[in-house]
Amino acid sequence: MKIRELQEEIIKLKKEKDICILAHLYQAREITEVADFTGDSFGLSVQASKAPQKTVIMCGVRFMAETVKILSPEKTVYLANPLAGCPMADQMDRELISSVKEKYPDYTVVCYINTTAELKTICDVCVTSSSAVKIINKLENNNILFIPDKNLGAYIAEQIPDKNIKLLQGGCPTHVRAGKRDVERVRAEHPNALLLVHPECLPEVVKAADFVGSTSAIIDYAKNSDKKEFIIGTELAILEHLQYDCPEKQFYPLSKDFVCHNMKITTLTDLYNCIKGISGEEIVLDQDTMNKARLCIDRMISLG
Ligand code: 13P
Ligand code: SF4
Repeated sequence: MKIRELQEEIIKLKKEKDICILAHLYQAREITEVADFTGDSFGLSVQASKAPQKTVIMCGVRFMAETVKILSPEKTVYLANPLAGCPMADQMDRELISSVKEKYPDYTVVCYINTTAELKTICDVCVTSSSAVKIINKLENNNILFIPDKNLGAYIAEQIPDKNIKLLQGGCPTHVRAGKRDVERVRAEHPNALLLVHPECLPEVVKAADFVGSTSAIIDYAKNSDKKEFIIGTELAILEHLQYDCPEKQFYPLSKDFVCHNMKITTLTDLYNCIKGISGEEIVLDQDTMNKARLCIDRMISLG
């Protein structure tokens, strides 16, 4: 089948079966085009909880599908391709963090949304890249253990110097692929361009940026800016979406290596097969995990 035919089939089937399709912004264009909602990791779960459909398919990575399930336990949630994990979310498990917590009993444990549902059950509050600074600022405790991303953690620590933020050795294997030399090279090639980066990038990249934000914040910034040229410091899909959305502007990658293979493993055919019921994985979490992880996410919602 051709891409257009497959897309038409997916649109027909999702209407017939009353299914809501979510696509993270790192997904390929042919997938975002047939999605009911596109957005950043947290935005998608909020959209899913408001959607009338009882079945949701997530085109993204596992922790995103888990977050959707936790916020909408009554819905049936599928991950379109079960192999799509987030290596950063899988870096730290419950056992490791339980032992770290014993060493730092008077610390509030703040986890990035890029964590497993199981790990969220032992964390105090969850944050996203766009809400982290605001939420941590509001916490009474000055001692914060932030997991798993040490680069996002370093960015937060820089913004809130009066908090004592303890970090562990976690991070996104995609966003660390560009450094200061890439910034210098691309800035020299495009002196009029603004540098927009995700806070999962290395601190030397984040410090050099004109704007730091989540995937959807980067897109909004570029769309609303009067400027005409931008260097994009996150997964290449964001650059591609911006090229389609703002054809009058120029977008350049900070690094050609900003490709998340886990995000890219989901294909349009996977989505088609998942809708047809022949592939994909239903997300099943036990009630205790859902209740405890929900507390961690609910604190984020009330503080954010
Ligand atoms: P956003 O929450 O900004 O969409 O980020 C998710 C992610 O995995 C970034 O690498
Ligand atoms: Fe995980 Fe990094 Fe991929 Fe985002 S880009 S899903 S943090 S591995």
